Amino acid sequence: MRISLSRKRLMTGIVILVALGASILYAAGRRRVYSPVQPIAFSHRIHGSKLKIGCAFCHENGEGRSPHMLIPSAEKCALCHQKVKRDSPEVQKILNHAKAKTEPEWKRVYGFSRSASVFFDHVPHIDAKISCETCHGNVEDMFPVGRVVDQTMGWCLKCHQQTPDHEVLIPNTKTTVNSLMGCAVCHR
Ligand code: HEC
Ligand code: HEC
Ligand code: HEC
Ligand code: HEC
Ligand code: HEC
Repeated sequence: MRISLSRKRLMTGIVILVALGASILYAAGRRRVYSPVQPIAFSHRIHGSKLKIGCAFCHENGEGRSPHMLIPSAEKCALCHQKVKRDSPEVQKILNHAKAKTEPEWKRVYGFSRSASVFFDHVPHIDAKISCETCHGNVEDMFPVGRVVDQTMGWCLKCHQQTPDHEVLIPNTKTTVNSLMGCAVCHR
């Protein structure tokens, strides 16, 4: 009787330890997605999934003139929020910026270290009909935005390698290379 009881306790102890270990691992796994705290609790889930505002309404790229996607100005948010949810403290923050003609210090989610001197331009990728989701995950359901896609060099190369119609002949040989694989395409 005594033996079976202590065995039961031992089993319970093991079960608890395993559960604890699993939850720590789970938490560590989740923490690996970089997701900075933003100055205003702006939710893509509300504005994207729920309100169905298109990405391009907020993230313009100057009609293809800018390699970067622009973050919407406080003034743009105020187009709606002068009327909508005015008494929400988070909305008041953005209205104050719009009034003062300043911008919140939104924290960057994506980006490369300066030392890598990577050149990236959204325009050819959008023209090639690659979806935002391919490179940023399902942002319209996110709150806050997290870096769910690991944009390493290998990640860029994998897709460039598979892109057809960029084969060029190496002079005086019969060998072709994909012109999108040259170092200078991305490092300038
Ligand atoms: C081929 C991959 C790819 C696609 C497609 C893509 N992005 Fe990006 N996006 C990136 C990369 C890489 C960066 C980081 C660029 C940098 O730091 O120079 C980035 C950065 C951004 C940024 C931060 C500002 C900037 O440009 O640095 C925003 C906002 C953004 N993307 C929105 C979008 C939206 C909206 C779409 C769809 C219309 C989209 N992206 C499509 C790869 C992509
Ligand atoms: C096209 C109109 C529109 C634009 C543009 C817009 N919003 Fe909203 N926003 C809404 C609506 C509508 C709600 C309320 C949604 C709900 O509660 O279901 C909302 C909700 C919010 C909330 C949550 C308020 C609360 O306390 O419940 C915040 C914060 C917010 N918006 C910030 C912003 C910011 C920052 C921008 C600009 C980057 C912005 N919004 C741009 C329409 C808009
Ligand atoms: C109502 C305006 C609004 C809409 C619509 C919107 N965004 Fe954003 N987006 C923002 C704001 C403001 C930020 C900066 C704060 C943040 O990261 O949450 C941002 C940040 C981002 C970033 C992180 C940029 C970086 O590297 O710092 C990505 C990626 C992005 N948005 C993609 C999208 C995609 C894809 C869609 C469409 C599904 C979309 N956004 C729709 C306003 C918007
Ligand atoms: C999902 C596929 C995909 C991913 C991921 C991708 N690219 Fe591309 N990229 C393309 C395609 C397709 C083109 C060619 C578009 C065309 O034919 O003009 C291109 C073109 C480019 C160009 C322009 C080349 C030129 O000279 O016209 C640059 C620069 C570039 N990519 C950089 C990057 C970088 C840096 C990354 C990673 C951060 C990246 N790309 C990730 C598909 C991708
Ligand atoms: C399609 C785009 C692309 C091409 C082509 C490419 N790279 Fe990169 N490279 C990147 C990106 C993006 C990073 C940064 C990744 C990160 O931040 O994790 C990087 C990072 C690096 C780094 C690390 C730099 C640092 O300080 O972190 C080196 C070194 C490098 N690349 C060398 C090369 C060489 C050599 C070639 C040609 C054989 C090449 N790359 C071709 C996109 C590319």
